[in-house]
Amino acid sequence: MDARPPPARAAGAGRGVTLVLIGTAVAVLFATLLWWQAQGWIATWQDWRRQRAGRSLSLRVLERETVGGCVRLRLGAVRGRLPRFSAGQHLLVHGDDGARCYSLARWQRWPAQYWIAIKPEGRASSSIAAMPVGARISASLPRGAFHCRPSRDEEVLLIAGGIGITPLMAMLDRLRAAPPRRVTLVHAARTRDALLWHDELAALAGSAGWFDYRPRLSAPDAGWQGEQGRLSPRDVQALVADPARCAAWLCAGDGMSGTAQVGLALAGVAAGRIHRESFGPAAGAAQGDVRIALADGRSVRGGEAATLLAALDPLQPYAAAQCRAGQCGGCRSTLQSGEVRWLMRPDCAVADGEVLACCCAAMTDVVLQPHFPR
Ligand code: FES
Repeated sequence: MDARPPPARAAGAGRGVTLVLIGTAVAVLFATLLWWQAQGWIATWQDWRRQRAGRSLSLRVLERETVGGCVRLRLGAVRGRLPRFSAGQHLLVHGDDGARCYSLARWQRWPAQYWIAIKPEGRASSSIAAMPVGARISASLPRGAFHCRPSRDEEVLLIAGGIGITPLMAMLDRLRAAPPRRVTLVHAARTRDALLWHDELAALAGSAGWFDYRPRLSAPDAGWQGEQGRLSPRDVQALVADPARCAAWLCAGDGMSGTAQVGLALAGVAAGRIHRESFGPAAGAAQGDVRIALADGRSVRGGEAATLLAALDPLQPYAAAQCRAGQCGGCRSTLQSGEVRWLMRPDCAVADGEVLACCCAAMTDVVLQPHFPR
């Protein structure tokens, strides 16, 4: 038997093959990473182009379900892919009876579908909520400045009232990808069936050490064992462990958002770390006996209406008012005289001397010149 070692040339050839294999694997890995990154750059560029062109989306209803008095719609693109969005953003959805804003309820890095949840109140929301599977819907591109991008060492507090859970679910999806130190989600609702994602959230709280879920009902049934009653400032204060590291996102009606803000202030959380999205200004105080006049001479009393737009509804002075939430700019007016109070911060830009009738209430008699009269 020949016990001599193999020739040095054969050993060198073996090493060469190994090096070629390693080099090929590294090149494939590098190309994959580059391709992945390039997809992101291309998608960002396409979204920017669409945004710049002011294009809208053509969507199709893929699924429709009714949960707790709300309708959840799963929407897909009629053609092409859906634009990416930041967790917390919303769509302005156009229906047969007007347009309304709906937060995107679930977040994916590369969205294959959008979820929205609709409370079918009022004509516009009711007609959008009634859209059957297969129907086509026109909507804006995702937009809005209510985003959640905490750093890893922050403590995140999410507080939702009723349907306000929708943007916070998207934020939670985003946070799951890279959880911060701690996330607490308070969802306050009237009844158990209005906790739209209760089972999923309870399961997540049971399995993820960084997540604390606090459902709360103001009208619980006999079997409810969770927290009860309206959320108080002290309840919110007790949730803050480290005010310097706490960042809060609130999505609720005016009353509950105000309560949460007081609680956060009591806990010492700086105002700049509190982010708030309102459902709309409908919960503002009535305007009372002030006179709201148009430049053409027509006028109404403020009465029980919470906003200028609501008071002016009988006169229908705005041709382009669609969202009633400071989004579309269709109720833009020049304030010719009088004083108004802003009830919510609008998304669209407003120049000096202008008001959005859907976002303001009259403090005194006012005269308005609509920019887009009917
Ligand atoms: S109705 Fe859209 S901004 Fe007022």
